[in-house]
Amino acid sequence: MSFSTDSWLLTHILLFLPLFHPLFAATTHTTPKNATCHSTCGTLPVKFPFGTGFGCGHADFARYIRCSSGTLQFSTGTGVYTISSIDYPSNTLILTDPLMSNCSSMQNSGSFSLDSSSPFSLVAEDTFVLLGCSTTSPVFDQNEELCNTGSGLHICRGMYSCTGVTGIGLTPNAPISTCCVYDPQIVLGSGFTLDLPKLQCSSYTAIYGYGGDEGDPMKWQFGISLQYNDSYYTEACKNCEDSGGLCGFAGLNESFACICRNGVNTSNNCFGRG
Ligand SMILES: *[C@@H]1O[C@H](CO)[C@@H](O)[C@H](O)[C@H]1NC(C)=O
Ligand SMILES: *[C@@H]1O[C@H](CO)[C@@H](O)[C@H](O)[C@H]1NC(C)=O
Ligand SMILES: *[C@@H]1O[C@H](CO)[C@@H](O)[C@H](O)[C@H]1NC(C)=O
Ligand SMILES: *[C@@H]1O[C@H](CO)[C@@H](O)[C@H](O)[C@H]1NC(C)=O
Ligand SMILES: *[C@@H]1O[C@H](CO)[C@@H](O)[C@H](O)[C@H]1NC(C)=O
Repeated sequence: MSFSTDSWLLTHILLFLPLFHPLFAATTHTTPKNATCHSTCGTLPVKFPFGTGFGCGHADFARYIRCSSGTLQFSTGTGVYTISSIDYPSNTLILTDPLMSNCSSMQNSGSFSLDSSSPFSLVAEDTFVLLGCSTTSPVFDQNEELCNTGSGLHICRGMYSCTGVTGIGLTPNAPISTCCVYDPQIVLGSGFTLDLPKLQCSSYTAIYGYGGDEGDPMKWQFGISLQYNDSYYTEACKNCEDSGGLCGFAGLNESFACICRNGVNTSNNCFGRG
C-alpha cells in the first residue's frame, strides 16, 4: 500500500515537473520590457525612419529625435527644437525654435546649427533673417556679401513693420540697417551654423513660406523647414509594418529590429508574436 502510494505520487511529480517548468520559463521570458515605440507623439503621426525613443525608427534618426511629453523633439548642437509637422510624402518637416522671433513676438534668440553628418538639411525655400544686428557686425562686411540686398530688403522692411519688433528694443518701421537676410545658400556647405554672438545679432527668424502674401508679414510661415534622407526604408521594414510592428533597432551593432505591439522585439516580423 505504502509503496503504491509513493510511486503514484512520484509518477505525478515527475509527469508534472516538465510541464510546469516551461510554463514558468515562458512567463519570465515575456514580462521583461514593455513596448517603448509608439506610432504617434502627442497628435503627430511618427513613421519610420522617425521613432519615438531609443531603439525606435532608424538609428541615424534616433540620435536627433525623441518624443518627450507628447512633443517630438529635434536636438542639435545648439539646442532642442520642436518638430511641429512632418510631411512624409515630400520628406520634409517643420522645426520651431521657442526663442526664434516671428512677426507677433520678437526676443533675443539662441544660435542654430545643423550637424553636417545628420540625415537632415535645409530646404531651398528657407530664409534666415538676422534681426537687431550691430552695425559693426561681420554680416555687413562689404566684401563678403552675406546679406541679400535684393528681395531681402523687402523682407527686412516687412519684419521691422511688425509690432513684435519692440521686443528687441526697436520701434516699428525703424531703419533696416540692423537687419540682414542671410542667404544659407552662400554659407551652406554640408552643415549650417547661425552663430548669433559671433554675428553680433540679437535675434533671428526663419521663414519657409509667405502664405500667399509677401506684403503681409503676419501671414508669413515662421519655422525652419528641413528635408531628410528618404533612402532608409527597406523590405525588412515593410515586412515588419505589414505584420503590425514598428521598425526599430537593437544591439550594439544597431541592427534592424521589429518591435511588436506587446513590446517583443524580433529580427523579422510580428506574425504570430502578437
Ligand atoms: C508593462 O505595462 C503594464 C501595463 O501597461 C504594467 O502593468 C507593467 O508593470 C509593465 N511592465 C514593465 C516591466 O514595465
Ligand atoms: C511667435 O513666437 C511666440 C514665442 O516663441 C510663440 O508663442 C507664437 O506661437 C509664435 N507665433 C506664430 C504665429 O508662430
Ligand atoms: C542617405 O542615406 C543612405 C543610407 O544611409 C546613404 O547611403 C546615402 O549616402 C544618404 N544620401 C545622402 C544624400 O545623404
Ligand atoms: C548584429 O548583431 C546580431 C546579434 O546581436 C547578429 O545576429 C547580426 O548578424 C549583426 N548584424 C550585423 C549587420 O553585423
Ligand atoms: C531585443 O532587445 C534586446 C534588448 O534591448 C536586445 O538585446 C536584443 O538583441 C533584441 N533582439 C532582437 C532580435 O533584435
